[in-house]
Amino acid sequence: MKKPWSGRFKEKTASSVEEFTESLSFDIRLARYDVLGSLAHAEMLMRQGIIPEQDGKKIINGLRDILRDIERGRFEFKKELEDIHMNIEYSLTEKIGEAGARLHTARSRNDQVVTDLRLYLRDEVKELIKLIKNLIDIFIKIAEKNQHIIMPGYTHLQQAQPVLLSHHLLAYAWMLLRDLERFRENLRRINVMPLGACAVSGSSLPADRDFVAKKLGFSSISLNSMDAVSDRDFCLEFLFNCSVLMMHLSRLSEELILWSSSEFNFIELPDAYTTGSSIMPQKKNPDVLELIRGKTGRVYGNLISLLTVMKGLPLTYNRDMQEDKEPVFDTADTLRSSLSILSEMLPLIKFNKDSMYRASSGFCLATDVAEYLVRKGLPFRKAHEITGKIVRYCIEEGKVLNELTVKEFRSFSTFIESDIYKFLSPEGSIKAKRSKGGTSPKEIKRQIRALRTLLRKTV
Ligand code: ARG
Repeated sequence: MKKPWSGRFKEKTASSVEEFTESLSFDIRLARYDVLGSLAHAEMLMRQGIIPEQDGKKIINGLRDILRDIERGRFEFKKELEDIHMNIEYSLTEKIGEAGARLHTARSRNDQVVTDLRLYLRDEVKELIKLIKNLIDIFIKIAEKNQHIIMPGYTHLQQAQPVLLSHHLLAYAWMLLRDLERFRENLRRINVMPLGACAVSGSSLPADRDFVAKKLGFSSISLNSMDAVSDRDFCLEFLFNCSVLMMHLSRLSEELILWSSSEFNFIELPDAYTTGSSIMPQKKNPDVLELIRGKTGRVYGNLISLLTVMKGLPLTYNRDMQEDKEPVFDTADTLRSSLSILSEMLPLIKFNKDSMYRASSGFCLATDVAEYLVRKGLPFRKAHEITGKIVRYCIEEGKVLNELTVKEFRSFSTFIESDIYKFLSPEGSIKAKRSKGGTSPKEIKRQIRALRTLLRKTV
């Protein structure tokens, strides 16, 4: 097959080089976007009189046929044609003859490929935003439904203070909301059109880039042709946003894995979303969650991979940049599948209310004793010390805090009176919380309201 650059070359490209340099095996995904970009470009060339109207019409009809073939899975891709751009151009010329040779005017593959990638990523990010919103909504619904469940909050994975399960789950809703905002910001920077930058310096032909941008739904055009073809920040930003999101999903997965263990026994995972063991009959393994945690590794890897590809590249286009696509595609796929499966699974998790309550009833209440003493007039440091002594006494006596008598309490501080017991239960502790953003039922309601409002605003 004749190469578009054959004029300059005496020898044929080595087949090993064709094999080594091809990108069709992965940029085939950009097929639809490549045609859409070409359609807008061809219309502009025709309107501007850069190509004869007759040829322009042939090109547009040919491209429409190609688009139909692609959508029906009937387009014949040829690996020898290196990448998706040359495949489509070649097929067009085969279809319509001579006129096809006019399409690649006032553009180069350098601005073409990054236009395709931006169109692709725009759709992908919009889809991710929908999935994230749905997941936040699921968290809110679960939190609303289980507002009465109390569990221990942890620091250092040691029981710390009682919290409402809703409070714990809503922490993830807030993380996801920030992820969502990051993707929306990303979308703003993705939606800038590089097409018409040509290879490096623009074109001497009277192209109308604004027309093409409008056709393709870009909100602006790049104003530096060198930056336009060199920039992959929008991909890096995407990969970073995905990395942070995956980190959140991974932490959630880790917690659910822990909670489902017999040691914690806080939750039961749905049968349909767990797997068994081929040897140990009692096992119910949280493989889905483990894989989300595991896949976080490849997403981070993809970010580091593209950062490293870009770091030493002189302006403008270098073939190294062909390595941008696989990490982006792989990341988008991983995020989409992880978010979808989590959204299916989360609503089916059963919470073991009693185990959670039991775990939050012991020394989790120590801070409540200290704050009680503060309310009675003691400085916090002093109150902390007294409570520490009470806890040590309990451990030595094999008791928990609410099993002590008033007399025992008063041997540590005469500030303590019988009203202490009001605060010595997980529900008493939670009800007593007054700070904004704390775990009291009132504040949970406020959180839910705030989340809903913010979610509506991000549409
Ligand atoms: N397949 C190439 C890529 O993905 C398209 C751009 C090629 N441009 C070039 N001048 N070789 O980056």
